[in-house]
Amino acid sequence: MLQNNITVGVVGSGAMGAGIAQVAAVAGHPVVLFDSNATALEKAKNNLTATLQKLQEKGKIGNAAEIIGRFSFAADMNAFKDCGLIIEAIVEKLDVKKTVFSELEKIVAADCVLATNTSSLSVTSIAAACTKADRVIGLHFFNPAPLMALVEIIPAVQTEPSLIPLAKALMLQWGKAPVITKDTPGFIVNRVARPFYGEAIRIYEEGIADIATIDWALTTLGGFRMGPFTLTDYIGHDVNYVVTETVFSSFFFDPRYKPSFSQKRLLEAGWLGRKTGRGFYNYAEGAIMPEPNKDAALGQQIVDRVVAMLINEAVEALHLNIASAADLELAMTKGVNYPKGLLQWCDELGAEEVLDTLDQLYNDYHEDRYRASVLLRKAVNEKKKFL
Ligand SMILES: NC(=O)c1ccc[n+]([C@@H]2O[C@H](COP(=O)([O-])OP(=O)(O)OC[C@H]3O[C@@H](n4cnc5c(N)ncnc54)[C@H](O)[C@@H]3O)[C@@H](O)[C@H]2O)c1
Repeated sequence: MLQNNITVGVVGSGAMGAGIAQVAAVAGHPVVLFDSNATALEKAKNNLTATLQKLQEKGKIGNAAEIIGRFSFAADMNAFKDCGLIIEAIVEKLDVKKTVFSELEKIVAADCVLATNTSSLSVTSIAAACTKADRVIGLHFFNPAPLMALVEIIPAVQTEPSLIPLAKALMLQWGKAPVITKDTPGFIVNRVARPFYGEAIRIYEEGIADIATIDWALTTLGGFRMGPFTLTDYIGHDVNYVVTETVFSSFFFDPRYKPSFSQKRLLEAGWLGRKTGRGFYNYAEGAIMPEPNKDAALGQQIVDRVVAMLINEAVEALHLNIASAADLELAMTKGVNYPKGLLQWCDELGAEEVLDTLDQLYNDYHEDRYRASVLLRKAVNEKKKFL
């Protein structure tokens, strides 16, 4: 199972599938890439050839022609017959994924591992489509897959436990930074990162500060690479809002993950961000970008509030055994490039200060959204650090 020389199959040749196929081929595997849309497959073939050529010119990979030679571009799924691992990266729809998984099972050998790159669906429910569900696992890559090191490994309820270390070893061999996470909504990154967007939008909606000021505070004072408004405009509100809504409903409507009307309206207006020329910001030619209010005290208040909410999410994830402390830190630094891990951030600020910020918010608002994790309270009472 999952030997170094296995042939890797990838279903779906879109942004993620093509990227994952590239990573596997560069790591030395023969790769079979299939897409139900012939035009998409042709496009992926051309892009992969051009990308690998460029990487060779820059000295980042060896012989591009040799790596390209490892690919076969398949017109139907029977080409997956000899694969030892298949990674599915098709449209994010449970019924379509389930159909593909049950079709794959009719083609592949009994020891072929079937992985899904789903961002938001339950791996357990995808595995349930298979007769041999213990061979199914989640391998969640980040976009762009060749550049982003993080891979979240998500065992389903049915997954054979011995598959987990094998998947981890293979991802390490591919040069990735694997973390292991429970099959719960958003896994690690898409769960723990929610307040970066949600709390920033809440601060904006309350009129505490405008978008340019919040972005300025979180980048300049907070050390984040991009502010939440610039970032969601970049990701696209169609993608980011849908993740928020999915996480919110998947958590049985926990108010901590409540989506915002500001972002919903952007989506309804078709103001999806950079790709449509308008989102929170206006990217039209000649449009004037708003200037931040560089008030240090206001900026710090924004950073303290957003960072306390992020730390609380990470601590709660640790409390619920979603992942180990080390994996939580790796996920947030490698998956969303946070300046440091959130548990380290908590240790540096002091759990007491973080708890004070949260309790102050809770006292002011009387909203469940601001409830502090019991593990944070315990860390304060027992004067413990997380790392
Ligand atoms: N885009 C991201 O940032 C990102 C990050 C991590 C995970 N994901 C997940 O990866 C998956 C793919 O996302 P994407 O952004 O690459 O999508 P995409 O739309 O770029 O590509 C999906 C591809 O799958 C093909 N496809 C659809 N149904 C198929 C079927 N039944 N059989 C074969 N091919 C089929 C489509 O033709 C398309 O080429 C989704 O599950 C998504 O949630 C996306």
